Amino acid sequence: MNGWDGTAGRVAGSADGRDGTAASGLLGRTATRSVEEVVRVEGVSRTFGRGEHAVHAVRDVSFTAMRGELLAVRGRSGAGKTTLLNMIGGLDRPDRGRVVVAGHDVTAAGEKELLRLRRGTVGFIFQTFGLVPILSAAENVGVPLRLAKVPAAEREERVAMLLELVGLGGHAAQRPYELSGGQQQRVAVARALANDPDLLIADEPTGQLDSETGRSIMDLLRAVVQARGTTILVATHDLNLIELADRALTLRDGRLVDG
Ligand SMILES: Nc1ncnc2c1ncn2[C@@H]1O[C@H](COP(=O)(O)OP(=O)(O)OP(=O)(O)O)[C@@H](O)[C@H]1O
Ligand SMILES: [Mg+2]
Repeated sequence: MNGWDGTAGRVAGSADGRDGTAASGLLGRTATRSVEEVVRVEGVSRTFGRGEHAVHAVRDVSFTAMRGELLAVRGRSGAGKTTLLNMIGGLDRPDRGRVVVAGHDVTAAGEKELLRLRRGTVGFIFQTFGLVPILSAAENVGVPLRLAKVPAAEREERVAMLLELVGLGGHAAQRPYELSGGQQQRVAVARALANDPDLLIADEPTGQLDSETGRSIMDLLRAVVQARGTTILVATHDLNLIELADRALTLRDGRLVDG
């Protein structure tokens, strides 16, 4: 809930542009946050079903991610990427192991605490954007702020700033169906950032976009990491996107492997 100084500024240029990281104003919080561990995953496992039908989706996975790190999680379809990210974001619970996000023990958290975590500490971006069709771009971005009971005036200001940030300042009133796929995903990025999360979890955020548009979304995430110090975990099998990450974790049959 902090770190926003209300100054409009954008990170990643126009909706189709790639002019990179003109970070300014509202974005300057990296300097105030020191190097720290934002994600700690310790020996996490998740099995679906039992007996001979058991699927060991994630097996004994451990890793850490630091503040301001863009980490790709790669692996074939069925490798366990979504299962792993869901457990880190508190959408699912591991059978074994522990997940700590920004000092919160996600695995030990009760439902109330998980709700708080999902509304404040963690932001989510999905392949299918997940926007509310009947709401405008601005209203979609404002949803998490309403849930957090941010007063209307401040909400409007922050929504405008967030749309500016993702290069959609001129599209506030448009509904999702009036926006391109890339623009819809930008709205989703703005919404995910609304409560200034420590961690952004993006599950195949470019899966429904052409490669050029996908690249511009990755550039946007890169810029967010750089400018705001947000930690981002991105599940993807797109090799072109993986090269934009600081580091890539590879899952094979639920296990973390090298390379
Ligand atoms: N709710 C569930 N019930 C049963 N099996 C599941 C469930 N969720 C995932 N699985 C199984 O766990 C394994 C890992 O699935 P997961 O969705 O994590 O893979 P993924 O790496 O995200 O794949 P994709 O790239 O296709 O999204 C798969 O074999 C899948 O069928
Ligand atoms: Mg998946």
